[in-house]
Amino acid sequence: MTPRRRLIAGNWKMNKDTCAAAILAQDILNRTDPWYAEDMDIVLCPPFTDLKTVRTVLEYDRSEINLGAQDVFWEAEGAYTGAISVAMLQELNCCYCIIGHSERRQYFHEDAAVIARKLVALDKAAIKAILCVGEGAEIRAGGPGPAEAYVVGQLRDVLDAADLTTPENLVVAYEPIWSIGTGQTATPESAESMAAALRALLSERFGADLAARLRILYGGSLKPENATFFTDLGDIDGGLVGGASLVAEDFVALIKAWK
Ligand code: PGA
Repeated sequence: MTPRRRLIAGNWKMNKDTCAAAILAQDILNRTDPWYAEDMDIVLCPPFTDLKTVRTVLEYDRSEINLGAQDVFWEAEGAYTGAISVAMLQELNCCYCIIGHSERRQYFHEDAAVIARKLVALDKAAIKAILCVGEGAEIRAGGPGPAEAYVVGQLRDVLDAADLTTPENLVVAYEPIWSIGTGQTATPESAESMAAALRALLSERFGADLAARLRILYGGSLKPENATFFTDLGDIDGGLVGGASLVAEDFVALIKAWK
């Protein structure tokens, strides 16, 4: 099996003004030995308004840490008030973009069709899409079977609508909604079982070779204290970190745990 490069992405969500973003990015760099980024992919996903600032900090340090966005719109240009295009992300050297986060699904009513259009637009530009899926508490209460069926169904719906043949740049993030920002993580067994089910779908769709190369992340209340829960699991290749990515010390502790 192809060894997969590990990936840790920090999702800053709607936090940090420009000045605070520069300070946080610099603090992360100061605590991160440059060679970490040789072994793994590290990604910072600040708000759109901070992308240029964070890019400047990364470039000034000649850092290998990558820049990512938290969302994108699929059209190339035009009358789409408030939207940000793939080309605009490329101009800022964003090589990752989160799509389908549960907060986008909840507050912005994004469904599989919308997420698929974003996936296709990112795929064309070879920007890596971190596609989030995850079940709510009520579905998890029904047990692992229904939860896996639901989450695999979420991925299937997006892949059906996107109809890509070889999504080399796809990263899937399993983020149970009940664990986001709650301090409660999935158990390693349930996260691994979910990741295996997601990989099985990828294998069915794209063949075993590509499925073995695609990365699957876990996200939801990752903290330095629980980081090692997920680092030795066969199908989980890294983490998508929310709250802990806003504290340089904690984010770097997570990087070290995955390294
Ligand atoms: P959390 O968020 O780490 O704060 O739980 C994760 C996410 O929403 O990506």
